[in-house]
Amino acid sequence: MIKVAFFDAKAYDMPSFKHYGRLHDMEFKFLETKLTEDTAELANGCDAVCVFVNDTVNAAIIDKLHEHGIRIIALRCAGYNNVDIRHAFGKIHVVHVPAYSPYAVAEHAAALLLTSVRRIHKAYNRTRDFNFSLNGLTGFDLHGKTVGVVGTGKIGRIFIDICRGFGMQVIAYDRFPAEGSGITYVSLDELLQQSDIISLHCPLTDETRHMIGSEAIGKMKKGVVILNTSRGALIDAEALLEGIKARKVGAACLDVYEEEADIFFEDRSGHILNDELLARLISMPNVIVTSHQAFLTEEALNNIAETTVNNIRSYFDGDGLCDNELCYRCGKIEQCRKERKQKCF
Ligand code: NAI
Repeated sequence: MIKVAFFDAKAYDMPSFKHYGRLHDMEFKFLETKLTEDTAELANGCDAVCVFVNDTVNAAIIDKLHEHGIRIIALRCAGYNNVDIRHAFGKIHVVHVPAYSPYAVAEHAAALLLTSVRRIHKAYNRTRDFNFSLNGLTGFDLHGKTVGVVGTGKIGRIFIDICRGFGMQVIAYDRFPAEGSGITYVSLDELLQQSDIISLHCPLTDETRHMIGSEAIGKMKKGVVILNTSRGALIDAEALLEGIKARKVGAACLDVYEEEADIFFEDRSGHILNDELLARLISMPNVIVTSHQAFLTEEALNNIAETTVNNIRSYFDGDGLCDNELCYRCGKIEQCRKERKQKCF
């Protein structure tokens, strides 16, 4: 029986993990707390830890987990910017779920876009109050508008297909453009200048951190709609707020926020929100915030649980090779196999 310490457990992800765990002889120790230096102790006696987007997996925590005999860190998400992959090398193996439902995220981005431009969130609240006035609810057609997609990976491409369905003109920027994909690539500057709507679908890296800041916003069209379902720190939230106050940014739809770690996923109603910036953004009539829920569909939850359990199993079974292992040296374990016919460690 493989024992897995499951940090930041939520009611919505436990059933699927219990189900797939039973099928693969794996026991989950569900912990409500996030993984931090103080809580790393709780993994004692386990073989693996399972973490989510807002758990901290820095060098000190990796060392602690290593001391406790943890052999594998299983991310139950795609992004791994919260893990010090380089430090883990040679100590603990790291696996992730590269794709669970790119449709879930792309469709959420589309839902946010439609909600924002057709003022559905306002209409919903009004009619519940039997207020049937249309004043202030004027939107705009998506048809014929230019959408700029930053990052044309799995999610970005599905979002592009959805936008094309609406008759929008799609332009894209990607550090590594996909040849032969039929996507019209432009430079980031051109994308910022030409887009009526900008949607972010690239990972958070040193290079992409705050890629949407005051300089980038300065280059955008007046009234631009900005969508972020990727990672909060892609946007400098203070610069975004300034752009909104200056009436430059027409609307912002944020599923992620740079400082979300201690706020999102929890019920904070009845509490005073200490994050003034987030409170100010939420107070804006043209900002919609969802709390990192783009992934949250039944299909995605099942895929996440199944892939995570398989990732952990494949490490403990047979040759220990797992297709979803992250290796800082080659990025992906397949490269280790292709080039060195073995894992890097
Ligand atoms: P992917 O790896 O398939 O695609 C990412 C794309 O970004 C690639 O085409 C890559 O070349 C491109 N890219 C890399 N560096 C770039 C740069 N500096 N500038 C522009 N493009 C760059 O990833 P996928 O599955 O499409 O996910 C995208 C992001 O969505 C993830 O990194 C993750 O942060 C976020 N995400 C958010 C979720 C949510 O619930 N809100 C759920 C799942 C993922």
